[in-house]
Amino acid sequence: MTPLLLTASDYRDSAQGLVKPDVWDFIEGGAEDERTVAANVRAFDRVRLRPRVLAGVADADTGLSLFGTAYATPVGIAPTAYHRLVDAEGEVATARGATAAGALFVVAMFASRTLEDIAAAAAGNVWLQLYWLRRRDVMRSLAERAERAGYGAIMLTVDVPRMGRRRRDMRNGFTIGGGVAAVNIDPAVMASAHRRDAGRSALARHTADTFDPTLTWTDLAWLRGCTRLPLVLKGILTAQDAVLAADHGADAIVVSNHGGRQLDGAVASLDALAEVVDAVAGRIPVLLDGGVRRGTDAMAALALGARMVLTGRPPLWGLATGGADGVAGVLRAMTGELEHAMVLSGRPALEALDRSLVRPGGP
Ligand SMILES: Cc1cc2nc3c(=O)[nH]c(=O)nc-3n(C[C@H](O)[C@H](O)[C@H](O)COP(=O)(O)O)c2cc1C
Repeated sequence: MTPLLLTASDYRDSAQGLVKPDVWDFIEGGAEDERTVAANVRAFDRVRLRPRVLAGVADADTGLSLFGTAYATPVGIAPTAYHRLVDAEGEVATARGATAAGALFVVAMFASRTLEDIAAAAAGNVWLQLYWLRRRDVMRSLAERAERAGYGAIMLTVDVPRMGRRRRDMRNGFTIGGGVAAVNIDPAVMASAHRRDAGRSALARHTADTFDPTLTWTDLAWLRGCTRLPLVLKGILTAQDAVLAADHGADAIVVSNHGGRQLDGAVASLDALAEVVDAVAGRIPVLLDGGVRRGTDAMAALALGARMVLTGRPPLWGLATGGADGVAGVLRAMTGELEHAMVLSGRPALEALDRSLVRPGGP
């Protein structure tokens, strides 16, 4: 009998048996000892909630609007590369699933379907993520294509001057194969991602070959000048960088440690959130990713000041399990849990989630 898929963790159990072991390691793994991967999840496990009663809340509204677009849920999909590694339709299926759930889908620069095909499967609920390449012409042309295709924002990932040491990928000599490719980018730029080399991650080598590690805050003006779309910076963990981001014209930021895949030992996303929210003081929206696995995780992050949460691995578990339906299933599971928790906490709408809902300090 097919097991009932009620939670993100049910989808994880189901996906594990369906994905090739080296791809599974690529998805699940993180940098070095994977302490930050674990810390992201543990930080949510430590949260204790302070529900209000007799609030007359029969149903809760999980809807919100960001940059002029309405979403049915504050749980969106974080950018993850190469969805065709787990599903033949790749990001087109992910877009259909996100759209069915009314969720934001941030499409990765290294998507394995074209930006235009993905946008056609969505309904204005897509943003494009970029890394800063040495080849700025490639970035500019992607930003222009995104704008033409109806993407709602550009998300620049700022925590990868070089790739984290992901030992699982090193041991597996992980390479992007099986006909999967980052089809939106000149193949000459992507060549080293496909070359197998024992004891090395092809992705780490590709990053070293093509990313520009000399980037500083003042360079952001160049990208700002390439597009009229809102510019979102992903990978902020401190009050200082949050203020610099707002000062340099970011329209939003994402508190993120890249799902524990970059600096091992970095602070858990949830633990960095309140500091960043306080420093930004309402100037721009703050989003969060890393370790969000259930509706109550989303509720805690929203109560601490996040406008939206993004989730990286769970949509891939959904995609591997059931294509577009699996993606929608994971998002609906988390959103249903959130709605339920809001009712049990006496909170009718996302605006009613405030810090008094979360017990400070943990156990
Ligand atoms: C398989 C995989 C691929 C990823 N690829 C990218 C990427 O291309 N660009 C990016 O900015 N972040 C990438 N990330 C990081 C995610 O955007 C996100 O920060 C992280 O997955 C959030 O943590 P979670 O998986 O615990 O939800 C990737 C993460 C995973 C697991």
